[in-house]
Amino acid sequence: MMKPQYKSQDALDRQSGIPTLMKIFGRFLRLLLPYWDKMLLWLIVNQIGAFVNLIPALLGIRIIDEVFPQRNWGLGVTLVWANFTISYLIYFIYLSNNYVWAWIRMFVGYRIQFGFLRHLQQLSITFYESRPVGEHMQRATGDPAVVEAIIVDTIPNAIGPFQRLFASVTVIATIKPELAWMALVYIIPYLIGQHLFTTWFRNLSKMQLARGQENTARLIELLSAFKTTRALNREATERRKYWVTWSRCRRMDWRVWWVTVLQQNTLNNYAGIFTTVAIPLFTIYWVIGDKMTIGEYGAAGWIVGQFLGPIQALAGFFQGIRRQLVNAERLLDTLEVEPDMVDEKHARNLPAKITGRIKMENVSYAYPGGGPVLRNISLTIEPGQKAAIVGPSGAGKSTLLGMLCRFYNPAEGRVSIDGYDLRNVTRPSLMQHIGVCLQDTLILMGTIGENIWYGGLDPSREEIEAAAKLAGIHDFIMTLPEGYNTVLAESGQLSGGQKQRIGLARVLVRDPRIILFDEITSAMDPLLHHEVIDSLRECCKGRTVAMISHNLLDVRDADVIFVINSHGEMAQQGKHEDLMAVPGLYQQLWRREELDRELGDKGGETPPPAAQNPSNEATELS
Ligand SMILES: Nc1ncnc2c1ncn2[C@@H]1O[C@H](COP(=O)(O)OP(=O)(O)OP(=O)(O)O)[C@@H](O)[C@H]1O
Ligand SMILES: [Mg+2]
Repeated sequence: MMKPQYKSQDALDRQSGIPTLMKIFGRFLRLLLPYWDKMLLWLIVNQIGAFVNLIPALLGIRIIDEVFPQRNWGLGVTLVWANFTISYLIYFIYLSNNYVWAWIRMFVGYRIQFGFLRHLQQLSITFYESRPVGEHMQRATGDPAVVEAIIVDTIPNAIGPFQRLFASVTVIATIKPELAWMALVYIIPYLIGQHLFTTWFRNLSKMQLARGQENTARLIELLSAFKTTRALNREATERRKYWVTWSRCRRMDWRVWWVTVLQQNTLNNYAGIFTTVAIPLFTIYWVIGDKMTIGEYGAAGWIVGQFLGPIQALAGFFQGIRRQLVNAERLLDTLEVEPDMVDEKHARNLPAKITGRIKMENVSYAYPGGGPVLRNISLTIEPGQKAAIVGPSGAGKSTLLGMLCRFYNPAEGRVSIDGYDLRNVTRPSLMQHIGVCLQDTLILMGTIGENIWYGGLDPSREEIEAAAKLAGIHDFIMTLPEGYNTVLAESGQLSGGQKQRIGLARVLVRDPRIILFDEITSAMDPLLHHEVIDSLRECCKGRTVAMISHNLLDVRDADVIFVINSHGEMAQQGKHEDLMAVPGLYQQLWRREELDRELGDKGGETPPPAAQNPSNEATELS
């Protein structure tokens, strides 16, 4: 079952155990399938390498048991040369195998990272808005990298030791079968101990990850809100809040560290008893009883000594993989979030030329987990008309605009452009015709020119400048020493009004049929405001425009005004004069604005309480 949200941490904690592990392996190991032939080659060569690695030990048996007793110099020299040749053989075997693996890891890495990115880009805006940015960041930056590491590092790192163990046990069985049995009996309690430890460890890891996530989210909030924090003199409070999450995180780290140390010491101790006590006792006993040669004694000791390496590597693997599986589970969780804004299978492109008639029929909408925001909204904006959407703050105006550019799909009802239901058209073809200017403009890293260029379909320098002129920002840009090549950081450097005009130019450069404005003049001074409104008039000619504004003076000349009330319903619609002629929300909004203007002219006195609340509706004005 797909779902529109991340699972809660509790839900993630509940799903542990073998079935989840199998699911995770099933999901991600599939990524290796296209490379099965190279994988197989890698496995075979690796196994051969593991056997070849043990040949020097076998040569050692002959040196001790034949060369020394017979004082056979010729055989000794031959064996040393054989040893030398084999070392080089091993070197080339592993070198070529690493080459094959490097190739596989590159492609697997690509598939994970970009598969994940594509999935994220298909998720709805509601999904992004539903969680703190920090959580998305953690998931997006950490989880794919960890899953990639599982497949390309952890798994081969575990297969290698298994193959080496297999080779060691087989070779030791040819020397003394009893030793091979002993090794097997020894490994079983080791693996059980390992399992118990890692189950404990995994639960701790999950909590550690959750704490880390909480801590990072806090830090991101602290950094991104730093202006507000400073303005309100709240640095100490923010530090204290961060200290709480940080110390929780550190306490968890400490517990995980402690369990790791305990695990390593306990298991290594157990392994040590086997290799330094049990094996020597038995082999010495066999040599004394003539059941083993001295050469075999030496080789067995050496090979058993080699056990410890793979077994420790396996222990590391189990510990690592358990921790990484927590990330893998979370990645699966993200991948299972339903991409609810993907185009329908039967979706068609909007025609290259449209007239731009916008129609909403009985549209209702509620954010996930929230009450209704828009109720039964119907409206029509004819091609070339300028429509205004007004209403109290929180009424749902931005949501309505978001619906026109398919940020959200209506829960009920239908939104269409030129009669095409937006659900049935492809997003890219829709967005080609729509330009959106939002309440706050995001400035991208790059130059001013690139920021404007970004809006169009590879516009020329002239088109960029024309758009900037139309948006009233060209003159400002020309005052900068570097002009259009001025590099902008993500935020900083530009005033709110300048950012918004760059956003406007970015929209205009695409020359869209339909333009949607969401309070773009809110950050501008009165002078600039009038300038931009004038240039808007210019650049909106011949296009269908929907404009949200809190400044009713801006919307007086609109062809049609839609008034949304605080319940998200269409309270009134019509031209300014008609709406002013009847008592209603629009009249109240105007009266309130006139009052504000008068008070502003008188020097910003505080209005008397009665004037502050002319009516219930007006109380909600922002
Ligand atoms: N992502 C979201 N998740 C849940 N609720 C939301 C989300 N975005 C907005 N809302 C809620 O939906 C309602 C309408 O919000 P919207 O932003 O559309 O109002 P608005 O009319 O544009 O207000 P303003 O004039 O202040 O910009 C508000 O009550 C708001 O709290
Ligand atoms: Mg809004």
